[in-house]
Amino acid sequence: MTSATLRLGKLGEETYRPVRASDIPAMAQIRAADWGNEEYWRRRIAEYLNRKMGPKEALRSRTSFVCVREERIVGLVAGHLTRRFDCEGELEWISVRQECRGKGVASRLFLLLAEWFIAHGAHRVCVDVDPANEAARRFYERHGAVDLRRHWMVWKDIQIYSQNSFFNRRPE
Ligand SMILES: CC(C)(COP(=O)(O)OP(=O)(O)OC[C@H]1O[C@@H](n2cnc3c(N)ncnc32)[C@H](O)[C@@H]1OP(=O)(O)O)[C@@H](O)C(=O)NCCC(=O)NCCS
Repeated sequence: MTSATLRLGKLGEETYRPVRASDIPAMAQIRAADWGNEEYWRRRIAEYLNRKMGPKEALRSRTSFVCVREERIVGLVAGHLTRRFDCEGELEWISVRQECRGKGVASRLFLLLAEWFIAHGAHRVCVDVDPANEAARRFYERHGAVDLRRHWMVWKDIQIYSQNSFFNRRPE
């Protein structure tokens, strides 16, 4: 059993689990609250998860986890193996419902993805982040990413950050 498996499951009122096809409409709703519309995101997420849509230089291995609170999806993370920018992994999306932010949901989702990367031998991980998205940039920086180039940040070794006790905080 990997440590990621240990961290899946119920944590207070939150459940962290791998994505299911039936989660896609709620995931699309969460993404569309920040950019685009739900129809766009339903198609995009389904194509990504079904490997019909490959981000540049993506390999086939990919995963996604969701956080469920009171039977409602409140957050999601997704990532895949890649060869982009000499990286081994790419964080594709991370989003939390606005009213659930600042409580560590994204941090715990990030940890699950980080451990999935490590389990797949992917230690150098990149993420595309809009330079104007200050919340996301701060989140990634706080979790160990540094600037790679315009629009991109990188974890030079994501293993270091998955061991940080910050991630082991329990929800209030
Ligand atoms: C970026 C994003 C995912 C962060 O989600 P989040 O759930 O609020 O993140 P966390 O709660 O884990 O961490 C955010 C802050 O809460 C703090 N925090 C972490 N655990 C906490 C806890 N248990 N209680 C209170 N605060 C906590 C963190 O220290 C962090 O503080 P900071 O503002 O100084 O960085 C969220 O803002 C979002 O969905 N943005 C829109 C989508 C987006 O831009 N995604 C990235 C590009 S794909």
